[in-house]
Amino acid sequence: MSSAERIKQVYERFPYPGNDLEALLRRGGSMPALKCMQGIGRPGCGAPRRVLVAGCGTGVEAFVLRRQLPKAEIVAVDFSPRSIAVARKLERVAQVGRAITFQVADLTDAKLAKKIGGDFDLITCHGVLSYIPEPARALRALATCLASGGALYLGVNGAGHPTTTLRPWLQSFGIDVSEMKEERRLRTLLQLWDALHDDDLGELSTMPTSYLAGDVCGAFFNNGSLAYWRTQVRHSGWDVAGTAILPAALRLVMDGGRERPLFPAEPGEVASRLDAVRPAGFHRMMLCRRESRETARIWTGLYTVKYGARAAHFFSATLGVRFEDKLTAPQIAALKSLATKNGAPEGWEKLWTRNDAGRRMLWRWTGLGVVSAQFLGR
Ligand SMILES: C[S@@+](CC[C@H](N)C(=O)[O-])C[C@H]1O[C@@H](n2cnc3c(N)ncnc32)[C@H](O)[C@@H]1O
Repeated sequence: MSSAERIKQVYERFPYPGNDLEALLRRGGSMPALKCMQGIGRPGCGAPRRVLVAGCGTGVEAFVLRRQLPKAEIVAVDFSPRSIAVARKLERVAQVGRAITFQVADLTDAKLAKKIGGDFDLITCHGVLSYIPEPARALRALATCLASGGALYLGVNGAGHPTTTLRPWLQSFGIDVSEMKEERRLRTLLQLWDALHDDDLGELSTMPTSYLAGDVCGAFFNNGSLAYWRTQVRHSGWDVAGTAILPAALRLVMDGGRERPLFPAEPGEVASRLDAVRPAGFHRMMLCRRESRETARIWTGLYTVKYGARAAHFFSATLGVRFEDKLTAPQIAALKSLATKNGAPEGWEKLWTRNDAGRRMLWRWTGLGVVSAQFLGR
């Protein structure tokens, strides 16, 4: 049996992330907020009108998106018929508003667009490609479903994902991690693991079997560095427009004024270089089609990074990031002044200005798009 078939079997046995609606909606928080996706990926484009949830499991992301986009057409697909059946049942219970189209489909199918329709201006694919042996096939199929100027949000395991060390560690105790078997010894080892770790997976030893079956045990895991995922993405005709780790990691280097060697470079390249030093456990990135690269330069990112004076910690810096989808008047003025000074902005440039509130702002115009960093309280 192929890895893909074995993976499908796991999700047929244990639909992910289960059927506890309350818990599902709480867990929806693991996906970035729509505002954040738009901030990195497509500022100023307005609310998406047609959304595809690729690899929807039992429907959590689709329900969360439905709340945020009551009018949008939402199609949610998964190759596990049982997961789709649970999602449909939950939708009836949840009464989320305009009906979501739940459909069985394989993301690696080259005829995907024919089966589910195309013209999606936002595609979300969270926690799926790390379990697909040939992720580039799915990325190519998804590209055929995208509307012109649309964006794909991709959430995938990073090289720093806890299972990178957890799985071999469990194996060293004789546990077969390729398949979930509920046994006392596994839980005891996970308790030991929890005692030694404090990471964003939470208390693994208390997680339900359905979670462990997909997120710890399983036939195939792909925990890649950002450089790895960027290669997959680029081979399939996509570009990394921005990632959630970028502003936070940039902040760490910008604080000491050590960012110069990183530029000029595209956002994906900068992020990969930063990730190589601080490997993220999970990547939340926005992708655009390569042919829309020139546009991407614009919609890549105006994001405003706001740091509290004492927000030195990596994760608190992440939480301190505010993504904006509209330019403020001072931002437009600063851009205009850059453009007048240099003609079409190429290469890299930086400029310190003060915003309305008298705060120092650092502007950059590079392949990264426009980044303004506001240093609060200085
Ligand atoms: C870890 S779950 C994530 C579910 C959901 N995105 C979430 O975050 O709650 C992975 C899902 O991807 C689905 N999946 C894996 N390979 C797939 C493929 N080739 N085509 C469609 N769905 C797939 C599985 O059936 C499973 O429901």
